[in-house]
Amino acid sequence: MCRHAAPPAKIRTVTASTDSPLATSAFLAAARGETPSHTPVWFMRQAGRSLPEYLKIREGVGMLESCMDADLVTEITLQPVRRYGVDAAIFFSDIVLPLKAVGVELDIVAGIGPVVASPVRTLADVEAISDLTPEHVPFITRAVQQLVAELGATPLIGFAGAPFTVASYLVEGGPSKEQAKTKAMMFSAPEVWDALMRKIAGIAADYLRIQVEAGASAVQLFDSWAGALTPGDYAEHVMAHSARVLASAGELGVPRIHFGVGTTNLLGLMAEAGADVVGIDWRTPLADGIARVGDRVVQGNLDPTLVFAPTDVMTARAADIIDAGRAARGHIFNLGHGVIPSTDPGQLKALTEFVQAYPI
Ligand code: CP3
Repeated sequence: MCRHAAPPAKIRTVTASTDSPLATSAFLAAARGETPSHTPVWFMRQAGRSLPEYLKIREGVGMLESCMDADLVTEITLQPVRRYGVDAAIFFSDIVLPLKAVGVELDIVAGIGPVVASPVRTLADVEAISDLTPEHVPFITRAVQQLVAELGATPLIGFAGAPFTVASYLVEGGPSKEQAKTKAMMFSAPEVWDALMRKIAGIAADYLRIQVEAGASAVQLFDSWAGALTPGDYAEHVMAHSARVLASAGELGVPRIHFGVGTTNLLGLMAEAGADVVGIDWRTPLADGIARVGDRVVQGNLDPTLVFAPTDVMTARAADIIDAGRAARGHIFNLGHGVIPSTDPGQLKALTEFVQAYPI
């Protein structure tokens, strides 16, 4: 675990005090199950290739290189907040960044995603991966501190990749549709699998702790590829590891969002793993998702391709989602997965304004 852990009570005071600029945050109120002034909205992958200002600042700078430059991270994270006036910023980084920081040889290849030079196969491969300390990621601490100062009343969401999704990149060596090698390890080498999941869970927990101690006021755990699992296999081989990360984040006193894709059948388990807010992907009707997660706050879930429809068609769908969200303990509006790079930023601006003005 991280050696610089602050007592949870201290963090709670910082994020919840009434003189904090965050005291009136609609996003934090909704995430805590309180009544916000309006339905809060932010977008997964709101910082990125759909923004001309992002493409400009990234010219000639590699993805991981940009994630390790505190000033670039700060600027890129702020870009969508300035442009859209969303209710939360998400820290610009990547789920594989902490692995890179502890020395795993990997790159993020444009149009493909993370590619790992030597995929993990054995216990020795797992043991060769270092745990994460704040000294590995000084640029993260600096970027979060700068951001919190700049963001004022807009909360910053920190994030990490969930153990299964990060394991899938390490075992497959790159993106995979079936996760066949990953699941083969899970079924046939349980000792290696358990060691790998523990290692990644520890890194994710420490990565979130570093972000929260620097000032992030909520966290999201991305289990993008968990939809490859049956509920039985998720419960047996994955859930406890994600639960450990969420429990550790819970000690910090910040709301925890747990999100996956294609996870309709896993939503109940993902909630049980320790989420305050459960992200619902766009294939799951929000009402179904709410029925599956019990008394929780939900986040989502407009189909990201709806931005290519006429504005009134897009906002009519958004209205249906907000109406459905009333059945939940709370609702944070989002897309049901990340912003597609060819998205017109004008549509996201119109969507933000529509959601914020819609009667709660
Ligand atoms: O705005 C934000 O949401 C914050 C930034 C963010 C990035 N990656 C930046 C990024 C976040 C939250 C992530 C998380 C992430 N990374 C996930 C989970 C979220 C999800 O979409 O399910 C996953 C699975 C990854 C792994 C990854 N990194 C993929 C699949 C890709 C896309 C590859 C491609 O080129 O299409 C990346 C690269 C990446 N991460 C980009 C960005 C903006 C694009 C690279 C670029 O701009 O050059």
